[in-house]
Amino acid sequence: MTDIAILNCRQLVTLAGAPDARSGPAMRELAIIADGALQVRDGRIVAAGPRGEIERALSADTEIVDAGGRIVLPGFIDAHTHPVFAGNRAAEFERRVDGATYAEIAASGGGIRATVRLTREASADTLLAAGRRYEEWFLAGGTTTIEAKSGYGLSVDGEIKILRTIRQLADGGRLRYVPTFLGAHEIPDEYRGRIDDYVDLVIHEMLPRVAEENLAEYCDVFCEPSVFHVKQARTVLRTAQALGLGLRVHADQFSADYGSLLASELHAATADHLESSTPAAWAALQAARVQPVLLPASVYHLGSTRYPAARRMIELGLPVVLATDFNPGSSPTASMPMVFSLAATQMKMTPAESITAATINAAHSVGRAHEIGSLEPGKLADFAIHDCDDYRELAYFFGRDSALAVYVGGRRVYRRAGD
Ligand code: NIG
Ligand code: FE
Repeated sequence: MTDIAILNCRQLVTLAGAPDARSGPAMRELAIIADGALQVRDGRIVAAGPRGEIERALSADTEIVDAGGRIVLPGFIDAHTHPVFAGNRAAEFERRVDGATYAEIAASGGGIRATVRLTREASADTLLAAGRRYEEWFLAGGTTTIEAKSGYGLSVDGEIKILRTIRQLADGGRLRYVPTFLGAHEIPDEYRGRIDDYVDLVIHEMLPRVAEENLAEYCDVFCEPSVFHVKQARTVLRTAQALGLGLRVHADQFSADYGSLLASELHAATADHLESSTPAAWAALQAARVQPVLLPASVYHLGSTRYPAARRMIELGLPVVLATDFNPGSSPTASMPMVFSLAATQMKMTPAESITAATINAAHSVGRAHEIGSLEPGKLADFAIHDCDDYRELAYFFGRDSALAVYVGGRRVYRRAGD
């Protein structure tokens, strides 16, 4: 039995409260304990409370962690990432800066398909090493769980290779992973013009293998008229549902009310992006209890100004989630603090709303709210000590990652260099 106690937290941001995903004014309630402390036993939280109270309950052999008067938050849950790929697209980024659009680059064989070519050629070891490098970036921002999508293999072997890499990364124990199968991310080169044949491959060969090897908890589809249109996306998602997978959808990134209505029809866990959605889509998502996952870093990196209407969604009562969308094309950042900055300046979400969106709401969206997303007795001790005096600094200082130390299951997995 290992007991640790984290003392001297200027703000212990617990997010304690109702077990449901939060919306409206409840997103601003962080349940902060001033001069707080946390007691942890065998990787789980035993108590969170004022320092004096916790200190009195400690046994003599408790290991003390001094938070140094900094703030302590639940580890962030990044509910939308694509972290396993080879190479990067810095050269394509330069073309975009010079005037080419994301859609033009994709149509000329670049974009996702360029990363697919490199990822297919890469060995499992190369992918694993790259994935470990990116883990460090997630941790530096205070993230402890990521939803991780495949989608750069687009063949049976390619997709399985990525999902097995995600499993190996998870076995490393530094970050928690929620694996998602995204075989319908693009149409690979050899299936151009034969989309229905590719959908057949996804539903008859890829999905059964993924389910048999238990390699994913969710299935996602890039639902756009120019990629997988609604009928094809529905076929993939229904097959996944029948195999017991949860559903997520890349929805309305470029086309109004496209994937979002399908996500609502199928009662998906989430509809992600929503830059082009209208009020009709928001109403459908709310009626079907589908959580919106907003990805402002991809809007920013694509040089667009069309951010999703976070304020309207929160006012309507939708339990908004924020995520990085970490990927080599549209969002090469693993930094949740950067996302908070964008959410504040571009979508008018307050720092408190952003923190709720990236903790308890995100935990709900990946089916883990009983285990993570708040610092409450019984939950896993996944938390970060941030180099801030106040939680608002997370969104205020931008362009830096603030975690000093990160703990997963009560074990320190990250420490800022030099500290
Ligand atoms: O969420 N839109 C589709 N998928 C990713 C981009 C992936 C890529 O460009 O490599 C996204 O933005
Ligand atoms: Fe994405």
